[in-house]
Amino acid sequence: MKPHHIRDILISEEAIEQRVDTLVGEMQAACKSDNLVMIGILRGSFIFLADLVRGLYRHGVRPRIDFMTLESYGSGTTSSGEVRVIKDIRMDVDGADVMLVDDILDSGRTLTFAVKHLLAKGARSVQTVALLDKPAQRVFPFNADFVGFTVPDEFVVGYGLDYDSFYRELPYIAKVTFTDAE
Ligand code: IMP
Ligand code: MG
Repeated sequence: MKPHHIRDILISEEAIEQRVDTLVGEMQAACKSDNLVMIGILRGSFIFLADLVRGLYRHGVRPRIDFMTLESYGSGTTSSGEVRVIKDIRMDVDGADVMLVDDILDSGRTLTFAVKHLLAKGARSVQTVALLDKPAQRVFPFNADFVGFTVPDEFVVGYGLDYDSFYRELPYIAKVTFTDAE
């Protein structure tokens, strides 16, 4: 890891809690299917998905839940659009209405791939929700159906998002400042 520090909190724990509460209200109508499958993209979505499903529960939403682990090929700066399935879903989504959950929509590569992948498995519909949207980095024109927060072009961690597998446990979203770049 490059020398860095985590000092600037961009989105507080309270702000996340409030936004997730509002977001489940916005999402609940779209989650009314009796064959709803919520799929978290690992590893970044695990906290967000856990909060979403408990919030949606209060709106009577009873999804099945599964996960898939995806990884972009090559470095983060290439835009080949190729994504590798490290671990696929276990569930049969043929005919299901899928709500895909990711931590951050950045280049758009991951969600573009994931939507196609699930439609190819026979999902009847695939909607998407991203906790964060970083539109400045978009390479693939992709809009999520639901977004928690739009963030500036900074590397962020916390609430599931990592830097080299660290900081996922932070209850807030913070900016990583690389100290040799100051
Ligand atoms: P995309 O495929 O470029 O849209 O990128 C999505 C993935 O890149 C996310 O699921 C994250 O794992 C990772 N990512 C992108 N930006 C950040 C960031 O600022 N912090 C941590 N992970 C990020
Ligand atoms: Mg991720």
